Amino acid sequence: MQHGSVLIPGDGIGPEVTSAACRIIDAALEGGDASIEWIPCHAGVAALEHGHPDLLPRETIDAIQQVGVALKGPCTTPIGGGFSSVNVALRKTLDLYGAVRPVRSIEGVDTRYRDVDLVVVRENTEGLYAGIENEITPGVVTSLKVATEKASYRIAKFAFEYARSRGRKKVTVFHKANIMKKSDGLFIRCAKEVHEADYTDIEYEELIIDAACMRLVQDPTNFDILLCENLYGDVVSDLCAGFVGGLGVTPGANFGEVNAVFEAVHGSAPDIAGKGLANPLAITMSGVMMLNHIANRTGDAAIAAAADRIKVAYNAAVGEGERTGDLGGSLGTEAFADALVRRLG
Ligand code: NAI
Repeated sequence: MQHGSVLIPGDGIGPEVTSAACRIIDAALEGGDASIEWIPCHAGVAALEHGHPDLLPRETIDAIQQVGVALKGPCTTPIGGGFSSVNVALRKTLDLYGAVRPVRSIEGVDTRYRDVDLVVVRENTEGLYAGIENEITPGVVTSLKVATEKASYRIAKFAFEYARSRGRKKVTVFHKANIMKKSDGLFIRCAKEVHEADYTDIEYEELIIDAACMRLVQDPTNFDILLCENLYGDVVSDLCAGFVGGLGVTPGANFGEVNAVFEAVHGSAPDIAGKGLANPLAITMSGVMMLNHIANRTGDAAIAAAADRIKVAYNAAVGEGERTGDLGGSLGTEAFADALVRRLG
């Protein structure tokens, strides 16, 4: 069976890592009964450079709505000026309300922690990312944090369903309801109600975010699923990436009811862009999540098998010392992709 996926190279290291990931995915599918038809589309600064008037062209949104999935490279958000974030706009336009960022130790990657296996579930559509900022008077600005019952119930249900479908045991809500009594208060009230209504088989815990971060760095293996509103989820995702080797090995996905966009946690890394140094593993792992999503939706076993083969290949490669510079190795982006393709051949 052939499946369509929109491919958004993005900015900075995006084109390098997405092209490597597609090569790896295509190699895993080669000679089998399934394939991916990549549908290239632009977003981010790349969209402007390709003559589109906006960072997020309508064609890109339409293409994702047509096939339901996309693999996306990171997009640069220029600071200040009149630009709003293309990532926030994409998530809002497609109502991709649930971000999932699995954080797992990889054999052979030298870190302070072992056996980390947790998942950050982030509410993707509101909080301070609502983007409602005003200059009240020169020198005084406000930024509005939005929390609605609808979005808070929805993300809580998503987190518990995710936990149940994967046999996970505990959901911990990170919050600051002692200070933001109304917004974070509403978020934890909804999470608690969802838990009590339908998910008492799963352990439920609430932690104030500052103490939660301390406990996380003391022992991340005490955590399972972390349920966070938008900004906390953003910060905690990068913190957790540090447990397992950094942003080069932390994949992600953004789910809505209908569409899903798969992208690494990392950004466009302007400091290493164009040098062939970026680790393509995080976006490749996001591609594996995409294949599993397609397999679940369509029942295509060949796609699920390809996802498994890629996992085996990267675990073996990294375990045996074939690594990019961020993991202490000497391979560049393409050489690492070559190593995986060889193992899939
Ligand atoms: P970043 O994630 O791009 O970089 C942080 C550090 O991690 C840098 O030192 C970078 O070299 C390193 N790094 C990131 N990915 C790597 C990889 N695959 N291999 C090796 N090293 C890697 O974060 P930063 O610098 O805060 O953001 C840069 C731009 O990316 C900004 O414009 C930001 O808005 C955007 N961004 C976009 C995201 C998205 O499209 N989903 C997510 C995060 C940031």
